[in-house]
Order: sequence, then C-alpha cells, then structure tokens
Amino acid sequence: MGKATAVANPNIAFVKYWGKADEALNLPANPSLSMNLAALTTVTTVEFRSGQACDVVTIDGHPATGQALHRVVAHLDRVRALAGSNEQAWVASRNDFPAATGLASSSSAFAALTLAATQAAGLSLDEVRLSRLARLGSGSACRSVPAGFALWEMEEAHQVAPPEHWDLRDLVAIVTGQAKAVSSHDGHALAPTSPLYAARLAAVVGWLAAVEDGLARRDLAAMGPAVEADALAMHAVMMTSHPSLLYWLPATVAVLQAVRAWRDGGLEAYFPVDAGPNVHCLCRAAAAGEVENRLKAIPGVQQVVASGPGNGVRPVNWHLF
Ligand code: PMV
Repeated sequence: MGKATAVANPNIAFVKYWGKADEALNLPANPSLSMNLAALTTVTTVEFRSGQACDVVTIDGHPATGQALHRVVAHLDRVRALAGSNEQAWVASRNDFPAATGLASSSSAFAALTLAATQAAGLSLDEVRLSRLARLGSGSACRSVPAGFALWEMEEAHQVAPPEHWDLRDLVAIVTGQAKAVSSHDGHALAPTSPLYAARLAAVVGWLAAVEDGLARRDLAAMGPAVEADALAMHAVMMTSHPSLLYWLPATVAVLQAVRAWRDGGLEAYFPVDAGPNVHCLCRAAAAGEVENRLKAIPGVQQVVASGPGNGVRPVNWHLF
C-alpha cells in the first residue's frame, strides 16, 4: 500500500449535533447543518508500511497517546478492513489552529484522515462513502467532507450550498488556547442525562427549518436567532447533564453579551458556540472588519480568526514526511 496526504477544513454547526441515536454506528439524535471554515486547516499524511509493528501517529509534532491514538488506530482499522490489509501506518497530522478548544478540530482531523488513509490504501471512495466513513471517526467530520454548507441527517452529510453561494463570515473569538477537559466525543453520552435534552431535540426541527430558509435566501436575520437559540440550548443541555459540563469562561459570556448589544446598535452578528469556551460570530462580509475590531477590543479575547466558507476534503500532492 502507499502514501497519501489530504487537507480538510473544520466546520461550524449552525444547528448542532449533540447526542446520539446509535452509539455504535455514530448516528445523530438530530440533523445538523454547518459551514466549512476556509481559514482553518488540518493536513494529514498516511503511509502504510509493510513490516511495521504498530501504527505510529503524531499530531502537531507530538506522538499521539491515550484516547487520541486509540481513535486514530480504530479509524485505520476500518480502512484496513475495507482494503483487506493488515499493514500498519505512519500518520502525521498538523492543525494550523489550537486543537480541542471548540474549533471543531475533530471534524477536520477525521475528514482528512479518512481521505488520506483510504487513498494510501488504494481505495477510491465517492463523497457519500467518504462522509459515512468519516462519521465513524467523529460525527461532525462527515460534514467536512462536502464543500461549503452541509446537512447531516442520518448516515452521511450532503452539500446544501457550495462555498460560492454566500460569502458569510465566521469570526472566532479565541478566549483560551487550552484543551477542554471533556471532549465532545465523551460529552455526547451525557446529553440524555439532562432534563432539557428532549426539549432541545423537539425544538431543533423548527430551528433547522429557519436556518435552511435563511441560508437559501442569504438572509442572516432569518437564520441568526435560530443559530443562537440552538447553541444556547446545546449548552443548557451540557450544563444540566450529569455530570455537568460548563465550557464557558467569563470572556465567553462577555462576547455573547457584546454581540447582542452590537445587534441592538444595528451591527448584524450572531453567535454559534461549539463545545468549548471560544465564541464564533457570524456576519456578512461587509461587516467582518468592524466585528473583528470590536471582538479584539473585548478583554479576554486573545485572538480573532476570520473565515469564509471552505472547500470539502481534498487530496494534495505533497506530504508532511
Ligand atoms: O464530532 P464530535 O463527536 O466531536 O461532536 C461535535 C459536537 C459539536 O461540535 C459540539 C456540535 C457540532 O454539531 O459540531
């Protein structure tokens, strides 16, 4: 078998996936809709080598251990099973943004790993099969496979609009670069312990319809309130699960308050927040400079990462090693 490299963008969900309908198959309890983030990338090289005793994985230059290594090896096992091979792999992966802080690094990580590993194994999977396989590594990864805006309903994600459809901007206010204590991978299992879980799932149907409609018509005001409501509902489920997950920091709340105040003042911006303390701000391209400047002025905001809609997972013809 050979060697291949792929690049993927993480995605930000406008309607979130939180909780599973099927743990073993990694099927979501509710549909989710997201945008790939062009400015953030994960690059992954995979090489299968005969005679190697075990998989060797480095992430951002450090050897992967524990759960991170286990998840990559489990994913390589899926690819080996498809290819009918038992060769072990050498894997290197690099993020150009801090991992595990609510920037959805697992989405780009498993999308890039899926394409690089299947190509290195000599497999050629279409987008649907790549998305299904990526989902087994990390649910949100299935949405980083198609380009632009993607809807994940059951087994795989499909594009609902290409990146060119709408130059929507996502400005991520980074309030900490530290990894979170509980990964979203582990957090899903806690969701059903919240008394608010069923209520959120019931409400998601309406929020998804509003987001689909706003996206189709490029109408931020039509979808923004649903994006915020769903992000807050997801965090309410997290906070009230057992044990409770409280990802927010004081600066997280400061940004949420600020975004609402700006809106009252006529600056159109809405906040999705992923499983972490950093806050995403959605706005139109014309407002992006102003939103970025204002975010940077909030005490506790260390950095702002600005992104437009990104491509799907894709191969590149150079390698990390
Ligand atoms: O793909 P996972 O298992 O890391 O779950 C991601 C969950 C959220 O990022 C919090 C929401 C989402 O839909 O991306």
